[in-house]
Formats: sequence, C-alpha cells, structure tokens
Amino acid sequence: MNNVHVLDHPLIQHKLTLMRNKEASTNSFRRLLNELAMLMTYEVTRDTPTREIEVETPLEKTKQKVIDGKKLVFVSILRAGTGILDGMLTVVPGARVGHIGLYRDPKTLMAVEYYFKMPQAMEDRDVIVVDPMLATGNSAIAAVERIKEMRPKSIKFVCLLTCPEGVKALQGAHPDVPIYTAAIDRQLNEHGYILPGLGDAGDRIFGTK
Ligand code: URA
Repeated sequence: MNNVHVLDHPLIQHKLTLMRNKEASTNSFRRLLNELAMLMTYEVTRDTPTREIEVETPLEKTKQKVIDGKKLVFVSILRAGTGILDGMLTVVPGARVGHIGLYRDPKTLMAVEYYFKMPQAMEDRDVIVVDPMLATGNSAIAAVERIKEMRPKSIKFVCLLTCPEGVKALQGAHPDVPIYTAAIDRQLNEHGYILPGLGDAGDRIFGTK
C-alpha cells in the first residue's frame, strides 16, 4: 500500500490496544485518545518546515529553529474527529482548526454534508484531516474533495484505525493524500464497522451509548 504510514511505535500500539477493550470507560477512552493524538501528531508533523529565529539564551544570542504552527490546519470530521483535536492542539497550539460536518446515511453508508467552516487563506496552509475511523472511506473522500476546492498547499489524512477497504477507497479517490494510521485492521462488516476495531468511536468518546 503506497502512501500509507502505519505508526507502529510501541506506545501508540499499547494505547490503541487499551482503547479496543469494550470495558474501557468513557473517561479512559477519551484520555487514551488524547494521548494517542499527541503521539501521532509528533509523527505526522515530522516534515513540517522550520525557520530560524534569533533567541537570547542566558549565555548568548543564537539562531534556532521554530515551526510556523498557524500554517497548519487541523480539520476535524464531526463528530468523532473532535476527540482527536485536543491532543493535536496540545502539541501544536498555534494550529488553525476547520470543521466539516458529515453524517453517514445508515442505509446507503454515503456521506451527507451538513457543516463546513475553514480558516481563510487556505492556499498558504497545510491541512491535516482527522477522523478516528477510516472505514468505508465515504466521509474521508467527501471531506478531502471539499477541502481540495480551497486549494491548500497539502493534505494529509490521520485516523486511529482503518481497514483494507477504507485505504483502497481513499487512495482510489485521492492517491495524492497520505494516510497515517495506528493500525490497518482485518475488514469491514456489513454495517460499515471495522473488525476487530473498537466499536463506534463517536459513542465511545462522548459516552452516547
Ligand atoms: N465508525 C466507527 O465509529 N467505527 C467503525 O468501526 C467504523 C466507522
């Protein structure tokens, strides 16, 4: 699979395993997601450009590197994407945030858009789209399509979990968009859930079931 990065750091794998456990409380699921989001952001932003600024240490003046955090836009696919945002913003507090509201029609499993709000001047920014689960790929494909209309400098897609069907669908539609994930699970079931997966990410983050 080209352009797919499985973030197999032991800490990431450990936390993901704990999240899969159906007995994990809403509280611990959310805390683990937050920690995972921070760790994944570290990997996903590895190629972020840096520039030098002058700083004065207690001993002397020096030129050292910084990133331009506000050039990054984290786009959350509502609602489950929001669960990843906090952790990402902890690591890159200057990043801008976009939201795209898509729900999955339970019969067709197709994405239906109900909200779209992005920062201005997207053509100067690098976008990281986040959704915990890349399952059928329909929401991800629709989100990336809409974001591409704004001509950002680049787009990456970050999820916790995906499956071969989701990767194939997103890469088929947007081969230029790299996918970052903590795991590629076995398969989708007939209801569009990932197996073995972790269940409904939104419900587990927000405690709605
Ligand atoms: N969305 C979820 O929350 N879980 C899945 O397994 C698939 C899509």
